[in-house]
Amino acid sequence: MSSKERLIIFDTTLRDGEQSPGASMTRDEKVRIAKALERLRVDVIEAGFPIASSGDFESVKAVAETIKDSTVCGLARALDKDIERAGEALKDANSGRIHTFIATSPIHMEKKLKLAPDQVLEQAVHAVCHARRYTDDVEFSPEDAGRSDIDFLCRVLEAVIKAGARTVNIPDTVGYALPHQFGNLIAQLRERIPNADQAVFSVHCHNDLGLAVANSLSAVRNGARQVECTINGLGERAGNAALEEIAMAVRTRQDLFECDTGLDTTRIVTCSRLVSGITGFAVQPNKAIVGANAFAHESGIHQDGVLKHRETYEIMRAEDVGWAENRMVLGKHSGRNALRARLGELGVTFASEEELNAAFSRFKDLADKKHEIFDQDLQALVTDATLDLANERVKLVSMKVCSETGETPRADLVLAVDGEEEPGTAIGGGPVDATFRAIESIVNSGTLLKLYSVNAITSGTDAQGEVTVRLEKAGQIVNGAGADTDIVIASAKAYINAINKILHPRTRSHPQIGDV
Ligand code: KIV
Ligand code: ZN
Repeated sequence: MSSKERLIIFDTTLRDGEQSPGASMTRDEKVRIAKALERLRVDVIEAGFPIASSGDFESVKAVAETIKDSTVCGLARALDKDIERAGEALKDANSGRIHTFIATSPIHMEKKLKLAPDQVLEQAVHAVCHARRYTDDVEFSPEDAGRSDIDFLCRVLEAVIKAGARTVNIPDTVGYALPHQFGNLIAQLRERIPNADQAVFSVHCHNDLGLAVANSLSAVRNGARQVECTINGLGERAGNAALEEIAMAVRTRQDLFECDTGLDTTRIVTCSRLVSGITGFAVQPNKAIVGANAFAHESGIHQDGVLKHRETYEIMRAEDVGWAENRMVLGKHSGRNALRARLGELGVTFASEEELNAAFSRFKDLADKKHEIFDQDLQALVTDATLDLANERVKLVSMKVCSETGETPRADLVLAVDGEEEPGTAIGGGPVDATFRAIESIVNSGTLLKLYSVNAITSGTDAQGEVTVRLEKAGQIVNGAGADTDIVIASAKAYINAINKILHPRTRSHPQIGDV
């Protein structure tokens, strides 16, 4: 890296990202994403909110025990019990951080916390002191800072820095700020707080007005040296600032930034695919950096220009963010070790020989149907293989779907429910509709289908289709994902994946709403 200052990348995909309705992840999925983030060389991984549930606690603990090169962080409200739980979850981390927060805007203090400003200030200082008993690396956030009074913010931040907060994070919790205004807020805070030089200024922007990245970059131009962001911009409501966009904007416009990240940007596409595969949140084709069309030139004039001189229409190289990685890697004759080695390079390791064997048998099935197997195929395959081993209550045993002109499509399938095989049959408006109805004839889930989408994982007519299904039941939203060269089978897998999540609801508290 250059002699420029470091822009710390704090990834919160596993915490704020998981607050997207339907994006909840299991402990093992979180560990897989954390490993990929470590390979991307993210500085800090916020792994969850340990007091929210025992699942969240176990996930933060497992990430803390696994990750060696990145700092692992746990979120805690400014309450002793939250901080103690976070401290406990992080105790085996190589480098652990506690991130504690309390709201400072008039509306949050009055209506949500029902506390006077001085009580909030006192609680913030107490929380930082308490967190320092567990680690020297304490971060403090004044929630809803974007709508807080600047004089009060200065008082709170000065006090928490004095109490030992090494990082002060300024969240635009509701995505209300505009870039010039948010940049100016950071500049003002740094200027007015007497001990500002003793802490790193961080920002955490939400995307409600589509300005999360712009606001974060404006803050960086005004001295922020940590950005909180997520892969694919996942996060509460409209999401957080997208990590890939922040990283590439700063890297591409080094003429305008006095800092740079330490990321290995060639890992970006791999991380994006992994997160979208696990959460079932598909990436839109025109999404900057990681969308399938981000580097595709359609118009003849553009293609001609790029062929003559690449920089005529390209400001970044596709391979610098990892697109070139998606080359043909394995084929029909590749063995178990080649599969293990390539997946290892993608950050996927197997906990047991059994898991490797499951992935290898799926790989062989796929290689029979598909000539060239790309990294993206491998990632989808591993997601599928782990799904099977995860003690799912409902499994697909077999299916047959008939669809022909002039006839009503019909699906016949067999599911294993809690180990018992059960047949189901249904007709429908199309083969996918018939398949979903046949599954429902067995499981009777009482869910509503809210979203169905299909994406081709790679190019070519033999590409695997990646299907996302979103189901809702009594306010609970889950996403299911499935991949196969046959999109009707991929659809069945995705539907069953979502049904399994409905059958195993995870109850967890939301950090910013109510009490635990
Ligand atoms: O958006 C927000 O304010 C948060 C805080 C917990 C940092 O996520
Ligand atoms: Zn947030």
